[in-house]
Order: sequence, then C-alpha cells, then structure tokens
Amino acid sequence: MDYSKFKQIVVGRRSIRKFENKDVSTEDIIELIDCARFAPSDTNSQTWEFIVIKNKEKIKKIEEMTWDAIHEKAKQAVERGQEKPAKLLVKSFGPYATAFSGAPVLIICLATPYVSKFREKVFDPIELATEEVWQEEGIKSSCLAVQNILLAAHAKGLGSCPMTGPVLFAESQLREYLQIPKEKTINMVVALGFPKETPKQLSRKEITEILHIIE
Ligand SMILES: Cc1cc2nc3c(=O)[nH]c(=O)nc-3n(C[C@H](O)[C@H](O)[C@H](O)COP(=O)(O)O)c2cc1C
Repeated sequence: MDYSKFKQIVVGRRSIRKFENKDVSTEDIIELIDCARFAPSDTNSQTWEFIVIKNKEKIKKIEEMTWDAIHEKAKQAVERGQEKPAKLLVKSFGPYATAFSGAPVLIICLATPYVSKFREKVFDPIELATEEVWQEEGIKSSCLAVQNILLAAHAKGLGSCPMTGPVLFAESQLREYLQIPKEKTINMVVALGFPKETPKQLSRKEITEILHIIE
C-alpha cells in the first residue's frame, strides 16, 4: 500500500459546503456505504445505518425545518433578554447549520442500539453501565463509519461535510419527517456532492500540543 497516497487523502479532505449542480450516482453512494461498513465497532456490533436523501425538495424541507428551529430558539433568547447571542445564532450559526442546502445528497447517519452477546451475557447481568453509556458506545462506532464515508468521498473526487447543526436544532422534526424510530440516534448528517470550492487548509493543533507519549 502506498502510504503517501493515504496521507494525501487524509490531509487533503476538507469540509465542502458549495456543490456543483451534478448528481452523485447511486453506485458511488453504495461504494461509500461499503467503506462505512468496514469501520471498526465495539464487539463488531456495527451500530450504524444510513438514510440517503437524493431528493432536492426533501433536502430543502430539512433546511427549512432547521431554519424554523433556529428562528424559534432566537425568538426565545430575545424574550429572555439575550439579544446578542440570538443575533449571532441567526447570522453566524444559521448558515453553518444549514450549509447542506446546496448539496445534491444528504446522508442521515444513525447510531443503532448497541446490542451484543457480551452485553446480553456479561455486561447487563453485572449492570456494568447505564443505557446512556450503551447509547454512547453505539455512537462512537457510528462516528468511525462516518469518517470512512468522508475519506472515501474525497478519494473519489466528491466533497462532503459532516454536520450536527440540523440535529442540534431540529432533531425531533427530522425524526418525525423521516419516520426514524426513537431507539435510533440521529448522529449527524453528511452533505455530499461534487465540490464547487477548494477551501484552504484550516490550522491544526501542533503534534506537541496533543501527543503525550508514555515510555
Ligand atoms: C461533529 C461535527 C459537527 C459538525 N457540524 C457542522 C455543521 O453543523 N455545519 C458545518 O458547516 N460544518 C460542520 N462540521 C464541519 C467542521 O466545521 C469542520 O470539520 C472543521 O471546521 C474542520 O474543517 P475541515 O473539515 O475542512 O478540516 C462539523 C464537524 C464535526 C466533526
């Protein structure tokens, strides 16, 4: 395997928020999901599912429900006298949370409940952890699957942006709209399409700042 090519994919991936008006083929989408399913997961529980929306009107509807929720939050903040954060929420965070609006594809990334023989036979009988901990366990694996999608997309010349904005603001509306059962967590969404921008590299923390080697 050529490591330098792999590193190029990792370093060259950027979050893309402007997309060409060009469809992504179902074959490409299936290929990305194929990469996702080879991600590691706790006891191979594979706690992920994906809803892929290729319908522009439905993506628009999700954008609208996100904006509605943002405006509602801003209104509530103003009523509490928090004018400045309310203004920033709409002006700065609004476009960030709805940056998927021009994407031809929106992938809703779900984390499914962590179910495993270990949990059934060992963890649950000894009451190892609460339901929230197990939910988090499923989300961890789901995030790794999403990263595979982002890297595979970049390797294929596609642009993507992982996003929690619409989930933070309109999780319940999104759940109802897409008929997602309550036991599945909406982890994040991924905007996907052919890139119409080449963003410059954002700064990263230095290795010395984040690496702690214990010998
Ligand atoms: C958990 C998570 C949530 C994110 N949510 C959003 C979002 O709501 N809107 C957005 O435009 N980008 C979102 N991003 C993308 C980040 O802004 C981006 O990854 C970060 O600024 C680094 O830039 P890069 O991905 O181009 O390296 C999110 C990324 C992650 C990992």
